[in-house]
Amino acid sequence: MTEWVAGKIIENHHWTDQLYSLKIDTKIDPFTAGQFCRLALDIDGERVARPYSLVNSPTDPYLEFYSIIVPDGPLSTKLHQLKPNDDVWVTKKAAGFFTIHEVPSAKHLWLLSTGTAVGPFISILKTDEPWQRFDKIILVHAVRHTNELSYQDTINEVQQTHAGKLEYVPFVSRDKTDFAIHGRIPAAIRNSKLEEKIGINMAVDNSQIMLCGNPGMITDTMTVLQERGFKKNLRRNPGHITTEKYW
Ligand SMILES: Cc1cc2nc3c(=O)[nH]c(=O)nc-3n(C[C@H](O)[C@H](O)[C@H](O)COP(=O)(O)OP(=O)(O)OC[C@H]3O[C@@H](n4cnc5c(N)ncnc54)[C@H](O)[C@@H]3O)c2cc1C
Ligand SMILES: NC(=O)c1ccc[n+]([C@@H]2O[C@H](COP(=O)([O-])OP(=O)(O)OC[C@H]3O[C@@H](n4cnc5c(N)ncnc54)[C@H](OP(=O)(O)O)[C@@H]3O)[C@@H](O)[C@H]2O)c1
Repeated sequence: MTEWVAGKIIENHHWTDQLYSLKIDTKIDPFTAGQFCRLALDIDGERVARPYSLVNSPTDPYLEFYSIIVPDGPLSTKLHQLKPNDDVWVTKKAAGFFTIHEVPSAKHLWLLSTGTAVGPFISILKTDEPWQRFDKIILVHAVRHTNELSYQDTINEVQQTHAGKLEYVPFVSRDKTDFAIHGRIPAAIRNSKLEEKIGINMAVDNSQIMLCGNPGMITDTMTVLQERGFKKNLRRNPGHITTEKYW
């Protein structure tokens, strides 16, 4: 049986018309960065629940979740409307294996995300372990439009705390910019644009890769990486690619 705890909304920050972050006051069991909780609301007498990655670090006082409104989505449209002091249900135990503990050590750690899936990487970057285990961490965030590049302040803070160790590479697919890579992650791996942008090569003998978000991005990126000799990372058979699909 799922154990639920009651949470109170502290803040609902709207980044754009569609993207928002909820800060929630509640007490859940200790969790590992990269894991998710389920959030739920009671709608028309039914508890409607969905998984959401934790964005806060395990030591932060409030829980934080980053979400997009999916048109006509049963839960994301309702969470978007929550105001400070409103109630929300949260699972007491976080779940999932998309954590740094599941990733073998390497020189470079690549964190590749689309849309709201940058969230679990923000949580991971706020913890100590990745900085002790990897020389360089490359955070890639791929979005449709420039204004969807959320969490810039947090990423800047992490870059300052770990000087020279974090490369941040935004991708924007539907606007032209002078700073982001235009297009999609798999194409930029195939034609080496991603590596050229930061001057770091992605090879089986120096890289571990975590992929999170759009299942199409994960499938297409896996295909390109497998052509280069990368293998899926499984507990019983360690490799280089660790994944979490959001749908
Ligand atoms: C392990 C896990 C962790 C997740 N963490 C997050 C998170 O941190 N933030 C978040 O926004 N969502 C996350 N999701 C997706 C989330 O659970 C919901 O599906 C989403 O918020 C939409 O809920 P809904 O009830 O409105 O619509 P649903 O009926 O759940 O979804 C309908 C459709 O919306 C699309 N969709 C779902 N999620 C997204 C998304 N994030 N971005 C773009 N399109 C999407 C898909 O096409 C999906 O089939 C996660 C999913 C999983 C499996
Ligand atoms: N963001 C918006 O403006 C917008 C507007 C209306 C509705 N929505 C709703 O929001 C959801 C989409 O949210 P989102 O924009 O955060 O997520 P998304 O559709 O996953 O797009 C995020 C990034 O992933 C890229 N991508 C998509 N498929 C890929 C693949 N197979 N391989 C590599 N990259 C891929 C997209 O590139 P491409 O641009 O090339 O696809 C985009 O750069 C949907 O439910 C949609 O209905 C969003």
